[in-house]
Amino acid sequence: MNGYLQEEVLLKIFVPLCGKSVDMKWLYDQGHEIVGIEGAETAVQQFFDESKISFTTSSIKDGILKLYQSDDGRIRLYVGNYYNIDMTGENNFLFIWDRGSLEAIDKSDREKYVKLMTSLMSPGCRLLLEVADRDDDMGPPFCIDKEEITNLFGSCSSVEYLEKEDTSKETSAIFKKGFKLYSIEKHR
Ligand SMILES: C[S@@+](CC[C@H](N)C(=O)[O-])C[C@H]1O[C@@H](n2cnc3c(N)ncnc32)[C@H](O)[C@@H]1O
Repeated sequence: MNGYLQEEVLLKIFVPLCGKSVDMKWLYDQGHEIVGIEGAETAVQQFFDESKISFTTSSIKDGILKLYQSDDGRIRLYVGNYYNIDMTGENNFLFIWDRGSLEAIDKSDREKYVKLMTSLMSPGCRLLLEVADRDDDMGPPFCIDKEEITNLFGSCSSVEYLEKEDTSKETSAIFKKGFKLYSIEKHR
C-alpha cells in the first residue's frame, strides 16, 4: 500500500471490515485520519490495546454502533454491521484500503457491499483492493476476478490490476497462490 500513497498528502482513509489490522496503526503513524468498521468488538479493543493508543468509547444510534475513538480523534473505529456505516455520517473518503474484506462477505451480498462503498467515495477516491488468488471452490474467502470487480463498480469507476504479492513461503494453504492487488478509482 505504501507505494500508492503520496507521502506529503494526508487523507481520510476508510478501512472496511478492519479487524485489528496493523495497517491502520501504520497509516495513523503517517499522519492520516482512519475510519474503520468491524463486527467483532474484541478485535477493535485489541487494536487499541496492542497499538498503545488511548481511546474513549461512545454509543451511536441507541447502541446500534459503538465508536472507539483515539484521544486525538484521528482514528475512529465503529463496532457494528458494515451495512450501518451510513448512520455514522462518515463519508467523502479519498482513499479506501480493502484487504480481505470484499472477499470475506457472502457472494450474494457483493452488490450491496459495493453500492454502499461507492456512495462513500469522493470523486477521485482510490480504493486499493487486495484479494487472495485461489480456486473458487476453496472459499471462504472467495476469490474475485477483475471482470467481476469491474462489473460491480460499474461505469463510474475504472479498475486496474496492479500487482501480485508472492506468498509462496506462506505455510497456510489458503494463501499459497499469493494476493492480487487492484486499484479502483472513482471518476471525477
Ligand atoms: C478477513 S477479516 C479482514 C480483516 C482486515 N481487513 C485485515 O486486513 O486484517 C474479515 C473481518 O470482517 C468482519 N466482518 C464480516 N462481516 C462483517 C459485517 N457485515 N460488518 C462488520 N464486520 C464484518 C469479521 O468480523 C472479520 O474481522
